[in-house]
Amino acid sequence: MITYDVAIIGAGAAGMMCAIEAGKRGRTVTLIEHSDKPGEKIRISGGGRCNFTNLHCGPNNFLSANPHFAKSALKRYSQRDFIAWIDRHRIAWHEKTLGQLFCDGPATQIIDALRGEMREAGVGVRLGVSVTSHMRKGEGFELRLSDGTLFRCRSLVIATGGKSIPKMGATGFAYDVARAYGLDVTETRPALVPLTFGPEILERFKPIAGVAVDAIVSAGKTSFEEALLFTHRGLSGPAILQISSYWREGEEISINFQPGFGIFDELKSQRGENGRQAIGTAMSVFLPKRLAQLLAADCGLTGNLADQSDKKLRALEAWLRDWRIKPTGSEGYRTAEVTLGGIDTAGLDSRSMEARHAPGLYFIGEAVDVTGWLGGFNFQWAWSSGWSAGQHV
Ligand code: FDA
Repeated sequence: MITYDVAIIGAGAAGMMCAIEAGKRGRTVTLIEHSDKPGEKIRISGGGRCNFTNLHCGPNNFLSANPHFAKSALKRYSQRDFIAWIDRHRIAWHEKTLGQLFCDGPATQIIDALRGEMREAGVGVRLGVSVTSHMRKGEGFELRLSDGTLFRCRSLVIATGGKSIPKMGATGFAYDVARAYGLDVTETRPALVPLTFGPEILERFKPIAGVAVDAIVSAGKTSFEEALLFTHRGLSGPAILQISSYWREGEEISINFQPGFGIFDELKSQRGENGRQAIGTAMSVFLPKRLAQLLAADCGLTGNLADQSDKKLRALEAWLRDWRIKPTGSEGYRTAEVTLGGIDTAGLDSRSMEARHAPGLYFIGEAVDVTGWLGGFNFQWAWSSGWSAGQHV
């Protein structure tokens, strides 16, 4: 029976990076992927241009039961290291906004570069096969694949990602393996996902579906200032995707439509100049018109600007700074960009990603309870954790 030094399950960003690093260290590596192509999420990410990292990436851009866990890997293989890797492969890139780096051309360039490095490092890639059984054998593991192959490995790396987008081959495999070897799994839920509303609120939102606006969106003590979008199902856009990772079912979110200047002062001055315009029309100086009309009505204001007292305008300003709404749920794993939660980091070594009480077993990438914000952070975690494990397997 063949014995590999390393078997890696899952050929996503984390699995491929780990395979390259292990192969470069002279390890014999087999990479097993149940889809017929590696790196499918890289290919579709960032609208096909892959937001592959973020210039400002740091541990504070991640959610985890242990916020310190990601520090070591992110420091040992940082965004600067991955940018240097991208440059070495002559992949042209640009910063879009907020430090988010995207390929100028198709994201498949990154997959091709990863595949090229795997070839050079002697990594054997098996596509279209899955693991049907795994068990501890001596100091290593014995695995059987769906094509009947049986082999052993000294190190087993689980890089099968989270549960988001089951249509693309996402499974809960990593969590099952973790539990089988005595590791805990924290609560998992969809994150970076649009939020949805019940029929009553949706009926009110109908006229503004498709309207986008910049806003500060908060859940509890966390806020993000980015665009939000009203949809036929609820709310989407970067600000909403970001806050979805912090929002809990049953809670309200607060939206601040503050335009960056005093709403009261603006409306009072407009009232002096043209008091006969409708309140919703006056508000359209700083908000999309359809949204302004809905918000004015929501606040109980009707009629012309001249009809509004200072007190009412002050109340409107306060209302627009803290517009509260309670989502009923999210669009779920069907559209979520990531899975929040995962393999409990308490059971892992933060330098190597090895399970503390199951020597030779490693977990990397999205499967682990380290979840990044929107903006290239999740890929950076995949590169960093994959690279770190690759130095130890
Ligand atoms: P990933 O999910 O990429 O790879 C896991 C691999 O394991 C897959 O190839 C899967 O088929 C395979 N697999 C699963 N179960 C298996 C099993 N039982 N046996 C064998 N193989 C198995 N992030 C970011 O930083 N910038 C961005 O622009 C985007 N954009 C984006 C868009 C969309 C639509 C989505 C869904 C997600 C993003 N993300 C993102 C998130 C990012 O794609 C994600 O965090 C990383 O791909 C995670 O990398 P992993 O290698 O950990 O898992």
